[in-house]
This record gives sequence, C-alpha cells and structure tokens, in this order.
Amino acid sequence: MAATQAIDTLTPEDAQAEHARLVAEITHHRALYYQKDAPEISDAAYDALEKRLAALEKHFPTLAGAHSPTATVGAAPAAGFGKVKHRVPMLSLGNAFEDEDVTDFVASIRRFLVLDDEAPLDFVAEPKIDGLSLSIRYEDGRLVQAATRGDGAEGEDVTANVRTIDDIPNTLTGPVSGKGTPAVLEVRGEVYMRREDFLALNKAQAEKGEKVFANPRNAAAGSLRQLDASITAGRPLRFFAYTWGELSEPLGTTQSESRQRLAELGFTLSEPSRLCRTAEELLDYYRAIGAQRATLPFDIDGVVYKVDRLDLQERLGFRTRTPRWATAHKYPAEQAQTILKAISIQVGRTGALTPVAELEPITVGGVVVSRATLHNEDEIRRKDVRVGDTVIVQRAGDVIPQIVSSVASLRPADAKPYEFPTHCPACGSLAVRSTAEKADMAAEMAAVEGGTDAAEAPPGESIETAAEPDGVVRRCTGGLICPAQAVERLIHFTSRLAFDIEGLGIERMRLFFSQGRIREPADIFTLEKREDERLDRIVTMTGFGKKSVEKLFAAIEARRTIGLDRLIYALGIRQVGEATAKLLARHYLTVDHWQESMIKAAQERAAQPTERKPELVGEAYAELCAIEQIGVGVADDMMAFFREEHNRALLDRLLAQITVETYQRPSTTGSPVVGKTVVFTGTLETMGRSEAKAKAESLGAKVAGSVSAKTDYVVVGADAGSKATKARELGLTILTEQEWVDLISGKTAAPE
Ligand code: IVH
Repeated sequence: MAATQAIDTLTPEDAQAEHARLVAEITHHRALYYQKDAPEISDAAYDALEKRLAALEKHFPTLAGAHSPTATVGAAPAAGFGKVKHRVPMLSLGNAFEDEDVTDFVASIRRFLVLDDEAPLDFVAEPKIDGLSLSIRYEDGRLVQAATRGDGAEGEDVTANVRTIDDIPNTLTGPVSGKGTPAVLEVRGEVYMRREDFLALNKAQAEKGEKVFANPRNAAAGSLRQLDASITAGRPLRFFAYTWGELSEPLGTTQSESRQRLAELGFTLSEPSRLCRTAEELLDYYRAIGAQRATLPFDIDGVVYKVDRLDLQERLGFRTRTPRWATAHKYPAEQAQTILKAISIQVGRTGALTPVAELEPITVGGVVVSRATLHNEDEIRRKDVRVGDTVIVQRAGDVIPQIVSSVASLRPADAKPYEFPTHCPACGSLAVRSTAEKADMAAEMAAVEGGTDAAEAPPGESIETAAEPDGVVRRCTGGLICPAQAVERLIHFTSRLAFDIEGLGIERMRLFFSQGRIREPADIFTLEKREDERLDRIVTMTGFGKKSVEKLFAAIEARRTIGLDRLIYALGIRQVGEATAKLLARHYLTVDHWQESMIKAAQERAAQPTERKPELVGEAYAELCAIEQIGVGVADDMMAFFREEHNRALLDRLLAQITVETYQRPSTTGSPVVGKTVVFTGTLETMGRSEAKAKAESLGAKVAGSVSAKTDYVVVGADAGSKATKARELGLTILTEQEWVDLISGKTAAPE
C-alpha cells in the first residue's frame, strides 16, 4: 500500500479516488482469501485496508453504500458446490486493535443500554481461531446440512465433507440435563487445523508432489472445500463451536450457559475462555492469551469479547454486518526486527537454488527464528533486501518465517544490492533460470531448513512453503557432479514413498554422505558389507549406538526387495512423482522391460530432439507418450535422465544390489474384464461415474471416453445419447448397468 495521507487533509476528489482503489483492492483480496484459499497479503495488511476504508467512509459519508465492502462480508460462494441460503445471516465481527478501542467498545455498550457505571455487565472472552466459519444444521438431533459462510447470506453446501470431521457429531446426544435437544439447531463455529497436523499434512503433500499450503487456515479451507468428500476425510480438520443460527428453543439465557449446552451436546468450544466484568479484565485476558499464543496448538489472530446476557445481545442488535454486542480484539502480526547477516543458497534435489535469510537470532511470538525464506531471486529484487540490512521478520498465521521488508533508514552506507549467484554454490556449475516448473518440485523449491527451533519443525527437517509461480527458479546444471543435488536425491531415495528406509533419515544421510560412506543409491545396500568388520568404527564415527546401527542394517535388508513403482519414484526424475511412477510400472510391469524401453526411447529421442509428434520420434518413445496422462514434457524429462551414461550406470549398479518385483496389477486375477475397453454412458443409478471408472480400472479394464470399434463393452445408463447409438451402429456389446454389475461380480459369464 502507498503511504497514507491523513484523512482530514484529503479533498473529496482524492477521497473518492482512494475509495475506489481500496474497494477494488479489498474485493480482489477477498476473492483470493475466500474463494481461492490463496491470499496474497497477510491478514494484518488486509485489516489495514479495511480500516482505512472505514475511516474514509466515516469522514466522507457519501462514499459509503450498500455495495461497499464495509457493508458486506466474505465473497460470494464459489462455483462447484450447491448453494445454501442462511436462514439467519452469518455475520462478521468488528475489530479492536488498541486498548483504547476496547474501552470504547465497553463504554459504547453501556451508553447504548443506558447502564450506569455500577450496573453489572459481563462478557465472555474466548480465543479467535484463524479458520473458516461453518454453519451446521441439525433437525431432530440429526445433522442435515452444513454450509460455509460465503457472502454471509448464501454459502456453499459442504454437508458431505462436514460429516467426515471427527469433532462434529452426526447425531446429537440428548436429552441432556433434563432438557431435550432442540428440534432445530444451527451450530456455528470455526473449522481449523492444528499446527502440527498442518505441518504433517504439508509434508505428506510435498512427498506426493501435491499442493502445499501456506498456512493452517488455507489448509483447512482447501481441505473442507473439496468436491470429493473422501479427500476431506483424510485431512486432519477440527471444529469448535462459538455461536448458533436458527434455533427452535433457546440454549440458555446467557452466552456462557449456551456454550455449556453446546458442550453437553457434543461440541468442542473455543478455550481457554473467561468471564470478564470490565474493560480492564478484558485487557488482562487479551494479554494472558497473547503470552500463550505461540504455544497454543493452533493459530489464533485475536480474542473475541461477547456480552454474556442474551437479552442484552438482543437489545444491542447489529450494525450492517457486525453485532454491537461483540468485537474481535486482534493481535498484531508476530513481527520483529533483526539484522540480515547473510543470504545463503540452498540447492534442492533437482538443482533449484533457494535463497535463505541468515538472521541475527530473534524471538518472534515466542519462537526463536534464525533463518527465514526469501522465496526466490525476484522476491529479493522486488523487496530490495541487502545483506547488513535491518529487516522485519514475520510469523503471522503463517508458520514459515518470512522477510516482510527491510528498513531503509537503517541501511548501512556500504550495503550493496544482492546479486543472485549465476553458479551453483555447491559445485560451481552454471545455474540458469528455467521457465516451466511442476508441482512435484514444490517441496524443494522453497525449503528452508531448521528455520526455527520451536514446535514447528524438528531441527534439520525442511519446512516447506507453497510452490512458486513458474519462471522464477534458478537451477544448477551440474546434475550428478553436484554434491548438494546428490545428497538431496539420496534423501528422496530413502523417503517414505520411495525406499522408506527406517533409521536413514535426513540427518544420517547427510552424515553418511559427508563421510563418503554413501555416495549413490547402490552404496546403501553395500554399506553393511563394507562396514561389517568395522561395526565398531561406524559406531564411534557416527556416534550412533551399536543397536541402532544393527537396526539400520536390518531396515536396509528389508528393502532389498522393492516394487517397480517405488523404484521408479525413488530415482527422483523430474516430474516423475508417485502417480506417474505407478502409471509407468503398470504399463511396463517388469524393471527389465521398463529399463530397456526407456533406453531405447531415449536413443530415439536423441536422434529426433525437436520432433513434436511422438509417432515420428520412434516406437518406444511413442509407446511411452501413449500412456494416459504422460505427455511429451514428462517423457522428455525421463529421456533426459536415460540419455546420461552416468544415470544408466548408476541404475545398473543399484539393480545389481536389489530385487525388483514385477508390478502387481491390483487384484485382477479372475477378473472377467481385465484388458477390456469399457465406455460408460448415460446416468448410472447405483454409482457415480468416477466410482464406476475407478472400479472398472481396479479390475484391470481400460475406461475410454468415446466409443470406437476397439470398445469391448458399452455400459448404458439412463438417458444415454449418441454414444449408445454409435455403439449399436458398430454392433458392440451393450450392457445395462445391472448386467455390468453382474458381470464384474462374476454372477454372469462374459457375453460373446
Ligand atoms: S463470534 C455474529 N467467536 O471470526 C458473528 N467468531 O472476524 C459471531 N471467529 O466470522 C462470530 N473465532 O468466522 C466468533 N470465538 C469466535 C471466533 C469467531 C473465530 C471468526 C468467525 C467470524 C470471524 C469474524
């Protein structure tokens, strides 16, 4: 945001121009936050925009209107989900930032209610968790619908997803304490993710080559708003209840009583909460929670104060979009100033160079931070961050510390603009900027090691951040001669979805590598033989116990036999993530067949490096590209691997040490449809299209999208159209849904 001018010095024209700019900006950021789950600015920066807009409208009342963001909340629901109209609107909260705002809040309530100074006025204070709000409707104690806030009037129907959240009862326990469960009850609260669950999720996502989230709030939103509820089910979502919507009978006469009832009905509340009587007590609470903030298991962005008596809440009522009886007291983003001592460069598995800020250690929100991510070359230039600068480090909701800006006035006279290295710091090879980056490299691109020493990441483990946009990554071209890439590749080789060798984690691998004990994958499997007589030596040199070394050798032995898909994935070829590796294994079945085919395809490609049509490159290459979901880009990354003599030799040395199992197609033995091509058309009754497809594929059938002479079966549901007609014309075997089900369950024999 540009420097802000004092509002009372603005001309009406300037005010109007700034208003328009702010409205556009806020609308943009709301869409990013609520619909895309991908905010570009911190919550604190967003709040500042809203605050400025409100101040402008206060001073120039003609600017305000029904369409101003000050009069609306959130953003309209995203496409893809059904819509739900909220019977009671889902509103937002006003914000307090300074102590004075809190005393004003209490005073204005007293004024509104015409209470004298002696009259008691209680508040419930509770943490404000940074997640996304949800309304869950129960009828006769059964969960019937759940919706996101959306724009406050209409949200998204996420019922199926919400049913998978453990914290949310599907049926309410009641009658409780003699009272029945209300016939209609809309429970409202926040869906969120704990920090440790968030970190574990991101780690797993990165390993799978899938999206990593910037912070727990985005992870929660992204997980809840999945069109496939089974994905939500696998995510560690939690819920706490803080209020209610439509009710057939009151839950109590006060906020605290109602909270108690919600707890009895089986909901988790926002805790620790406290009943407070004065502004001073509210501020005490605010400070007490603030002191615990860094150690709470979840991210909070403030605390909420609510008038306790519901009759008073009723009298106080609402402004356009916020209640008068409650407010949020926000904490400042956790920021601190420190000195940038150096910028170091980390080299990832595929050679990506990531700049890391080495800081004079500083406490940010209770956590010691000595390193922070600088994301990439462009980011350093944009922020003009220089070594020697005093910089602002931030840990807002985001767990990964980052550099917000440098303080220009404190810059040493001799500080020079940072020059991003053009050569790899680990091996000296040329580093070039690449243009196309794929998600399966997300993990390494912005990995900052051991950025903090507190709760978030065990020392030495990488902290992942979201993938950077295309085109900003500079990459070492050293390939195998680069020791940094070599060790990262080894770490990948033994990771969970690859060889998964217990006891050979990141730190040990680095140690073995630096000692020269393990230089390439094959060395892992000869380690014991080479070190056998010297077990004692390895014990003294590594500092590991004898037991632990023996355990490690046993773990390595257990992995001497491995599946083809794991082997392919473990090689760490660019763009070949878990899913691609499986596709390849499923197609080539044996390691010999795969290896020969790849070498042949690489030769073909080397002779025709620019040809765009795979058929014209050669047979083996075309076969590879014909595998569904494998495009020329992925194929060429594989070719790049197999073209190199040292890669082929490395693979041979590894294969001499291990046994690779033939890929087992998932349980297709005895399947009547193995190898058959099936087309589904029309509406199926007993299962959805994706379920039908998954089932057929699991039985070894190939599911095609269109009918041709090669189609074996056309399964026709209700309202089938042109595909069924075409099938009849071609004289193909047409099955009803029931006939298909009978066929795959073995009830009937395959039709001729
Ligand atoms: S009470 C009438 N209590 O913060 C609105 N909200 O910034 C009543 N939030 O939309 C909301 N923790 O999504 C309330 N303990 C808490 C909360 C909380 C988080 C969220 C909620 C709300 C937003 C407002």
